[in-house]
Amino acid sequence: MSLLKSTELYLKDIITNLGYDIDNVKLESSSMPSLGQFQINIAMSLAKAYKQNPREIASKIVESLDDRFTNVNIAGPGFINLTFSDKTMIEYLNEGINSFDIYVDAEEPKKIIVDYGGANAAKALHVGHMRAANIGEALKRLAKLYKNEVIGDVHLGDLGRQSGMIISQLMIEKPELPFFDPNFKGEYPKIEITKEDLAYLYPTASKIAKEDPERMALVHDITAKIELGYTPYVELWKQIVEVSSKEIKGVYDELNCNFELWEGELSACDYIDDLTKVIEPYIYESEGAKVIDIKEADDNKEMPPLMVFKNDGASVYSTRELATIYSRMERFNPDEIWYVVDQRQALYFEQVFRGSYKTGLVPPTTKLYHFGFGTINGNDGKPFKTRDGGVMTLSNLLELINTEIEKKIKPEITGEEREKIAHALTIATLKYTDLIPYRKTDYIFDPVKFSSLEGKTGPYILYTVVRIKSLLNKIENFNDYKIENIPNEDIKNIMTKLIELPDSLKRSYNEATLNYITEILYEICSLYNKFYTNYNIINEEDAITKNTYIAVSNLTLNTIKEILNILAIDTIDKM
Ligand code: ARG
Repeated sequence: MSLLKSTELYLKDIITNLGYDIDNVKLESSSMPSLGQFQINIAMSLAKAYKQNPREIASKIVESLDDRFTNVNIAGPGFINLTFSDKTMIEYLNEGINSFDIYVDAEEPKKIIVDYGGANAAKALHVGHMRAANIGEALKRLAKLYKNEVIGDVHLGDLGRQSGMIISQLMIEKPELPFFDPNFKGEYPKIEITKEDLAYLYPTASKIAKEDPERMALVHDITAKIELGYTPYVELWKQIVEVSSKEIKGVYDELNCNFELWEGELSACDYIDDLTKVIEPYIYESEGAKVIDIKEADDNKEMPPLMVFKNDGASVYSTRELATIYSRMERFNPDEIWYVVDQRQALYFEQVFRGSYKTGLVPPTTKLYHFGFGTINGNDGKPFKTRDGGVMTLSNLLELINTEIEKKIKPEITGEEREKIAHALTIATLKYTDLIPYRKTDYIFDPVKFSSLEGKTGPYILYTVVRIKSLLNKIENFNDYKIENIPNEDIKNIMTKLIELPDSLKRSYNEATLNYITEILYEICSLYNKFYTNYNIINEEDAITKNTYIAVSNLTLNTIKEILNILAIDTIDKM
C-alpha cells in the first residue's frame, strides 16, 4: 500500500474517532510547499455539515496526530498542512528501491478486455492506429499493474474494400488461380504471395478503380461476396490476411504491443449466426437495410438506428462488432470491455453499446467503455498529412523522427549498436509524445521539438536514465545502499515527488489517460537532474549523505524504469 493511501486511512480513523462521519480524506499535494508537503481540506466541509467552527475542528484533528508528521500547522479558514517526518519518508521509500508495489493501491480485480489494435489488413498502419496502439498498450499495462486480469485483442480490420481491391487485381493478373474457376472442386491450394505483392496489388487496384467505374463495380462485387461468405474468395482472402497479419505483427512488435488475442472482423464472422438469434427480435427494415432502433426517451440529440445487416443479408462493420461482443461474452464473460479507438467513432460506439444492452447481448453488469483519442495534426491544425498530401502512415512518421534522432547520438557510437539506440530513441520519442496530452485532446506533431534532449520528450527521459545508469556503474553493489538521511532540499523534493506517484498512477487509471503519468515522469527526471548538477555525488565526503545519494539515485532509476515499462518504452545504456 502507498504511504498516501495508508495515511489517508489513518486520518480517516482519527477523524471518525473524533465523532465525525466521513467517507474518506484526500491528501492533496500542497500548493505552498513552504507551509507543508501535503494539505487536507476536510475541516471546512465538516464545519458545514456539523455547523461548527472549521479552525476548531482542524485543531482537534491536529492534536490527535502522532509523530509520523512534522511541522503540522493550520492555515486560513482551516487548511491543515502536513509534512511527513524524515523517518516516515525514509522508511517508506527504502522499501521502494526493490519493489514498485509501494506505489500501487490495487482494488477488487476485474476481468477486462482491451480492444486497441484495429490495423487494417493489407494496408499500412496510419497515425490513428499508432495512437490506439500506444494508448491501448499503456492502459492495458496499467490495468495489469492494478492486478486486473486483462486480455488485449488486436481486432484486425480484415474485411472490407481492400479485399475486393486485391482480389480484383489478382483476377486480372492470375486468372488461372483455382479460386476464379467456379467449377473447381476439392481443396484450394496454398498460393505464393508476399508482403511485397500486397504492397503492389492494393495501390495498383485502387488507382485503377478510382478512374474506372467498371473496375470499381467488380471490387464491390468481390467485397460483397466475401461479406456474404462466398467460399472461394473467402479462402483466398484468408491466405492474404495471413501474410498481412505477419507483417502487421512485426509493426506492433516494434511498438512493444503484445496482444493476447489476435482476432478480427473475419474471425468474428463465425459468430454471426449465433448473434442473429439473439438480436433477431429487435431487427426491422429501414431504407434498404436491417437495423435496430436505439433511441431512448430522454435523448437530446439525433440517434440514428444501428445498422446490423445490409438488405441482402451481408454483414457490415457493426455486424462484426456485435459478433465480436457475442464471442467475447461467451468465451470470457468480462466485467469490462475497453475500446481504445479514435474519438471520431464515438457516436458509432454509443450506438453499438446501446444496441448491445438493449438486445441483451451484454448484461448490465458488464461495462462497455469507448476510450476515444484525439487526432494528430500538422502545423496547419488539420489532420497530419505527408508532404504530398497523402495519409500519414506510421512508417512516414518514424522516418521523420529518426532523421532528428540521428543528430542526437554520439558519433563514436556506430554500426548495429547505433541502429539499436536510434530505434529505441525513435520509439521513445513517438510514444512519450503521444501519451503527453489528455487522451481526447488533438495535438500538433512537431518532430524537431519532440526529439529534443530538453523539455518533455522521450529523449530527455532516456537521457536521464543513461545518466543515472552510468553513475551507478561506478559504484560496487549499488543495490545494497539505503537512504539514511535527508541532507538537502533537492533530495527532499525528489522524495516528495515519489511519494506523490501513486496519485498520478491512480488518476491515469481512473480516467484512462496517460498524461498524469507522463507528467510526473518528467517532474521526477527534472528534479533528479537538478540534484545531479547541484552536487558532486561520487566525491561527497559525508559517508551517510553519500549513501543516501546513491540509494536515491538507484530508487529514482528503478522507479523511472517501471514507469517507462507501463508506457511500453524501452530504455538504453548510452546515447
Ligand atoms: N479497423 C478500424 C479502423 O481502422 C478500427 C477498429 C477499432 N476496433 C473496433 N472494435 N471497432 O478504423
